[in-house]
Amino acid sequence: MNETTNSNFESDVYYPSQNTIDEAHCKDYESMYKESIRNPEAFWGKIAAEFYWSKIWDKVIDDSNPPFYKWFTGGKTNIVFNAVDRHLKTWRRNKLALIWESEDGEVRTYSYFALNREIVKFANILKSMGVERGDIVTIYMPRIPELVFAMLACAKIGAAHSVVYGGFSVEALAERIEDAESKVLVTADGGFMRGKLINLKEIADEAISRQGTIEHVVVIKRTGQEIHMENGRDYWYHDLIKLPVVNQSCETESLDSEEMLFILYTSGTTGRPKGIVHTHGGYMVYTATTLKYVFDLKDEDRYWCAADPGWITGHSYIVYGPLLNGATSFMYEGAPNYPYPNRWWKMIENYGITILYTAPTAIRGLMRFGNAWPNRHDLSSLRMLGSVGEPINPEAWKWYYNTIGQERCPIMDTWWQTETGGFMITPLPVTPLKPGSATLPFFGIEVDVVDTDGNPVQNGEEGILVVKKPWPSMLRTIYKDPERYKTQYWNRFGTMYEAGDSARKDKDGYIWVIGRLDDVIKVSGYRLGTAEIESALVSHSAVAEAAAIGLPHEVKGNTIHAYVLLKAGQTPSEQLAEALRHHVGHEIGPIAKPEKINFVEVLPKTRSGKIMRRLLKARALGLPEGDKSTLEE
Ligand code: WT7
Repeated sequence: MNETTNSNFESDVYYPSQNTIDEAHCKDYESMYKESIRNPEAFWGKIAAEFYWSKIWDKVIDDSNPPFYKWFTGGKTNIVFNAVDRHLKTWRRNKLALIWESEDGEVRTYSYFALNREIVKFANILKSMGVERGDIVTIYMPRIPELVFAMLACAKIGAAHSVVYGGFSVEALAERIEDAESKVLVTADGGFMRGKLINLKEIADEAISRQGTIEHVVVIKRTGQEIHMENGRDYWYHDLIKLPVVNQSCETESLDSEEMLFILYTSGTTGRPKGIVHTHGGYMVYTATTLKYVFDLKDEDRYWCAADPGWITGHSYIVYGPLLNGATSFMYEGAPNYPYPNRWWKMIENYGITILYTAPTAIRGLMRFGNAWPNRHDLSSLRMLGSVGEPINPEAWKWYYNTIGQERCPIMDTWWQTETGGFMITPLPVTPLKPGSATLPFFGIEVDVVDTDGNPVQNGEEGILVVKKPWPSMLRTIYKDPERYKTQYWNRFGTMYEAGDSARKDKDGYIWVIGRLDDVIKVSGYRLGTAEIESALVSHSAVAEAAAIGLPHEVKGNTIHAYVLLKAGQTPSEQLAEALRHHVGHEIGPIAKPEKINFVEVLPKTRSGKIMRRLLKARALGLPEGDKSTLEE
């Protein structure tokens, strides 16, 4: 979508309505932003003081050992104190925390009181399995409320969670469990997607057999399908909750601000996914604050973030951010167009959703079905819209704005990453919008676009996107690999965080994110590494070498194209291509399946043996091949 974004660089401006300004938590972005930059310690200290701490921090920012920054050091809290416990003492105990609809239309609702009860039960179960403060529990689930309960139960007892997206498959799950050395896995018998059964437990069993740390598995019954239960290892959740110990009370552990809340694995330049580490204190303060100001969250709202809790968007803005604000969050299990393309619009009408936050790929996908589907529904409850995951092309932006928001709802195009924990570049409701631009930095965030020497580029020129100061919810490290944390994000510019994206800045200081600079491909907003796909391909017995690239796609943003060199004696065929696609799906997950497999005799490489993906891409797109001086003859 980059081409469209860039051609629209000088675009129309959409100004907020008086009504939006009157309602907004922050009416003057500029002065509040300036304040946050002038004195970050005072700014964040004041905001953090609105939360419950069992001990107040000694220092807001500890920058004594860069780039290992710490926040609110010496302070003690637990994100669950603030996301759940404190609401129980107010009228919000009776407020809905979660409304959930299954793909086949079943509805479940949980007040804050009920949510707490579920978390306590789950926490007691985890404790009875020997989970202790500091352990890492892997969670591999479909999009059901128990996923949220399990995450919060871990946090409550001081264990970290590592959620693996339910769309991932055997190898992706196995290597994440392995890296985290989890002893306990929480999963389900299966899930539903477009009416089809997904065999989650079967995938989990195969993943467990590939590694050796799992001792206990908690299994939620979701589909009722026949599954294997390993004696002495696997336990049904509905059996466990009958144990007397489960109904005991359970205290929320008071933790150090910097204790690990979760690991979330994400793709980078090498085959091994990076375990991004987030902690209780700073993440809590930042996710709550960003959500409050960007989506102007109020008690009356019914807020819907349509992502999956298994990605950072879900962690920060389905689970923690909304609960920290005492909001009512809606969650939907299934596919957007199931059984018909009006599913989302029907739910917005049914539940009176006021804020919708989704990804450009979903917008483009639903746009294809035409205006008649949304027009059949009353969408007048909506007041704010959001976008995340990749640049939104102006055409999709305008459809979202006109047809879904009915020219009434500002669109918050939020740029951020797994690593950043929360929104970094984003409008506020009062910000004049330009379709395709994530606009301006959030409070306390200093960003710039620089050249390879770290000097700011001219306005309008493409450069490298950097963040110049630490922020509360920044990643603390890569799990078990602090060296990689340093080299990946800080090596090139020293004190500036390198995000891995290219961008431009316009004359008004608006940031236009262009896309990834590294070998990461965004497919339907999901982040995948070329190296992961390539290693899945070479793990097939017929393949000698493989290269994966991303090519533009109208709905998905990008799709994966693979170039495969077969082993001697293997012959290319349609069947083999299909078998390879299936193999990648089985190893990583359906989202990683290459759209096309090209069998080749040779792969372009540098003299040092690196595959030149850039060249493959240029050839596929019919573009100039650029500098070929390093190409091996
Ligand atoms: C990468 C991070 C953070 C939530 C989901 C993605 C791209 C994200 C935008 C946006 C342009 C965006 C960037 C970034 N990206 N939001 N609003 N405009 N690009 O998290 O999987 O860690 O991916 O997504 O390339 O680096 P993630």
